Amino acid sequence: MATSPRAFVLRHTQLLRVPGLEEIRLHLADRVLPLWHAVQVETDDLDAALPYWAFAWGGGLAIGRYLRDHPEAAAGRRVFDLASGSGLCALASMRAGAAEATGADIDAFAAASIELNARANGHRVAVVRRDVLDEEPPEVDLILAGDCWYEASLAQRVLPWLLRARDREIDVLVGDPGRRYLPTNELVELASYDVRTTTELEDLEFKHARVFGMRPAFEQT
Ligand SMILES: C[S@@+](CC[C@H](N)C(=O)[O-])C[C@H]1O[C@@H](n2cnc3c(N)ncnc32)[C@H](O)[C@@H]1O
Repeated sequence: MATSPRAFVLRHTQLLRVPGLEEIRLHLADRVLPLWHAVQVETDDLDAALPYWAFAWGGGLAIGRYLRDHPEAAAGRRVFDLASGSGLCALASMRAGAAEATGADIDAFAAASIELNARANGHRVAVVRRDVLDEEPPEVDLILAGDCWYEASLAQRVLPWLLRARDREIDVLVGDPGRRYLPTNELVELASYDVRTTTELEDLEFKHARVFGMRPAFEQT
């Protein structure tokens, strides 16, 4: 990698207010394909992941709106933002009064982005840059999972991990704009929002996105 992930994020994004969550600012890109190409060149890897970290995804936007409407879900609590991307959900939890927040992502650019976005919003967010899905869920009070159900292989790993978290009495909030691998049988809908994303990523600019908790174990059929 020629430059640091931090310098790369700064060079390819602008600090902008998040649509529908204007109190939060993120380093965002407007075009996905040119940025993806720049990531491939920078990393010398044609299989490099999409630059998820440069966008606020529908699931994260829904969690952000939910935490603004229900700050008590995060206030005073230890929060873990799985698949954090830009760190949007972690930041929304800090705005809601979380005691501490951690953003976890496997992407080096996401890790840099979480740090930059935390600083831009005047919050502290710890960053975990490794795949935590083979570990036990962390010792926290609330796990946020924004937009994790877009890929079968990831969804198959996230669900058992969230079920283990639920069984350890950790609260979970899932945000999702209708992805294919959403495990609806395991979830209870709490709220829904029309969120503004971008046709760079989605078929429509506005997506209907829902926020869920985990279905209690005793309700399983
Ligand atoms: C669609 S983005 C969602 C980002 C953010 N939660 C939001 O809603 O804006 C999915 C993120 O999951 C991350 N990811 C993929 N596999 C992961 C894993 N095993 N552990 C942690 N993060 C992962 C990707 O790098 C990407 O940043």
